[in-house]
Amino acid sequence: MTPDYWLERWQRGETGWHLPEINLHLRDWWPRLDLPAERLVFVPLCGKTLDLLWLASRGHRVLGVEISPLAVDEFFAEQGLTTEITDEPPFRRYRLDELTLLCGDFFALTPDHLLEVGAVYDRASLIALPPDLRPRYAQHLKTLMPDAASGLLITLDYDQNQMTGPPFAVHRDEIERLFGDRYAIRELATLDVLDDSPRFRQRGLTALTEQVWRLDPRGG
Ligand SMILES: C[S@@+](CC[C@H](N)C(=O)[O-])C[C@H]1O[C@@H](n2cnc3c(N)ncnc32)[C@H](O)[C@@H]1O
Repeated sequence: MTPDYWLERWQRGETGWHLPEINLHLRDWWPRLDLPAERLVFVPLCGKTLDLLWLASRGHRVLGVEISPLAVDEFFAEQGLTTEITDEPPFRRYRLDELTLLCGDFFALTPDHLLEVGAVYDRASLIALPPDLRPRYAQHLKTLMPDAASGLLITLDYDQNQMTGPPFAVHRDEIERLFGDRYAIRELATLDVLDDSPRFRQRGLTALTEQVWRLDPRGG
């Protein structure tokens, strides 16, 4: 999945992952992370998710990164929001009050960008990436995240032989392999979501579950 793949999906309006409402798992589980309101939340591969606004509404400062300028433009335009825009190569920074979106490549972020992050929220980001890219994503995320930061991760699991991603299936053992060295991983919820996902049923899936994971820094 190259950047061009995602840029073209945004250009064609093929953004079936985008939810018209706040993610229910975020609403349910985020408060239990007990992250103080003033802490900064990192949202990698954020698209134009409304979850950015929900996190900001809880008092968090929010930092998203998204490669598609179209996604970022649509996010602010659809909310009727005007931002301050600055070029900070290789990123373009969009800032409105406590919300900052960096338009550019996640893999170009450096730890300096995330110095103050208290938690990461990943929904449909890890699972957007093919198997060969996921270790690189996890490794880079771990490099970026301050030691004490925690995380909420939402993934999908299904028989990868029944459908090609994205979204890709990610099993528990992979989550452990990717993040277990640094985080204690707790499965908060598993839900059968096949009935809510007719487009995936049409693509051949006979079973589909969604998992919510909590990541707590080991020794943190
Ligand atoms: C499946 S979507 C999920 C978006 C969002 N997390 C949500 O829940 O709506 C994946 C997003 O990652 C973006 N993306 C893919 N690769 C990226 C990269 N290397 N850096 C930044 N964004 C990227 C895509 O443009 C797309 O908007």
